[in-house]
Amino acid sequence: MKNIVLVGFMGTGKTVVAKRLAGILGREFAELDAIIEKKEGMSVKDIFENKGEPYFRQAEKQIIGEVSKKDGLVISAGGGAIIDDENFNNLKKNSIIICLEASPDVILDRTKGNTCRPLLNVPDPKKRIEELLDERKTYYKRADHRVNTDNLTINQVVEEVKKSYENIR
Ligand code: S3P
Repeated sequence: MKNIVLVGFMGTGKTVVAKRLAGILGREFAELDAIIEKKEGMSVKDIFENKGEPYFRQAEKQIIGEVSKKDGLVISAGGGAIIDDENFNNLKKNSIIICLEASPDVILDRTKGNTCRPLLNVPDPKKRIEELLDERKTYYKRADHRVNTDNLTINQVVEEVKKSYENIR
């Protein structure tokens, strides 16, 4: 049984949706950032601050290599996880990849006031969101399916993801 991997920008709801979906499907849930945090003994924010982004990306790559060998999981990947060919190809081997999307304003609204995302702790987060979305759009497009979450509740997104998974598998 293939894994279901949720990818997409920060604030698109990957973790909460993946967790609920795993519950509905009776599958194991895995959040890559949480696995990294446990392994490193510090938060993603602290890893970025103390060890730097390249160190985080290396840790992320290693975890992706490991979870890619498993099956039947519902995985929530960090927003930058598939911005790397090796990671994408590893995940692709045994997973259906579904990208959650949202517009910059919605992402800003969902992420504001939360300081745990180092990439958005900048003076002008909206500009940063737009830049990163632009840089990443070709990568996110490679997912097997996309769900726009702008006007959907969490449960509606869960339903959409479940439907796409059932259609693709
Ligand atoms: C990142 C997204 C974060 C986390 C890290 C980098 C990114 O995960 O992995 O801060 O590059 O988009 P979420 O998408 O779960 O916030």
